[in-house]
Amino acid sequence: VPSRRRLVVANWKMNMNLASTRKFVKDLVVTKEQCTVVICPPYPLIYPLNELVNENKSSITIGAQNLHRQDKGAFTGEVSADLLKELDCEFAIIGHSEVRASGETDEVINQKVKKALATGIDPIICVGETMEQREQAQTNEVVTGQLLQALTDVSDLSRVVLAYEPIWAIGTGLSATPDQAQEVHQQIRATLLKTFGQVAEQIPILYGGSVNQDNAASLAEMGEIDGALVGGASLDGTGFSTIVHAF
Ligand code: G3P
Repeated sequence: VPSRRRLVVANWKMNMNLASTRKFVKDLVVTKEQCTVVICPPYPLIYPLNELVNENKSSITIGAQNLHRQDKGAFTGEVSADLLKELDCEFAIIGHSEVRASGETDEVINQKVKKALATGIDPIICVGETMEQREQAQTNEVVTGQLLQALTDVSDLSRVVLAYEPIWAIGTGLSATPDQAQEVHQQIRATLLKTFGQVAEQIPILYGGSVNQDNAASLAEMGEIDGALVGGASLDGTGFSTIVHAF
């Protein structure tokens, strides 16, 4: 297995507050250095989290849950990539199924990926099928389609991170099995290699969908699973530490 960067990413979604963020930073124990730990809090917590990380000399890296495709302007409620970069965000989740569900298109996702890269933010691009699509044997087609559209005209693939998040596994407690995840990750890797050549070997593919303390180690054993994107189980610093150490 070629050496790719390994990442464990917390997607806090619309959870946490100042007090629980303070406790999280205190509780998180990160000793393994081969794995990058990225915390993606709600936007207003980015600044205080960054201060806590500096105060505690924590090795946490900060990410955003989204960003806007335009530079700036009349976009009420949105946050620009430039501002996120100024606040020390090094990553941004792009194309999460919960955002896709509110109408975000593959074209917009592609624009966000390019905006992130142009701003010095590494995109974590999410792809994944519904249960219905899986049952109709469309998983590979759906995931490949999302992937290739998100990466259209992207020049710097070395900074791209992918996350395979089957929609049926998100927040359901029903994780994909290590074999199911590995199979899709292998298909993704094959598509990347065919489309982009050797640089594809450098792209980490994370698994997301009901990752927890109990299943993290068996997922981490799979050669094509380079890390995890964790929702519910990322809200507690102690529990999340266990997941980090599995990778
Ligand atoms: O982005 C992470 C996510 O969608 C998975 O959520 O709660 O199933 O770990 P969860």
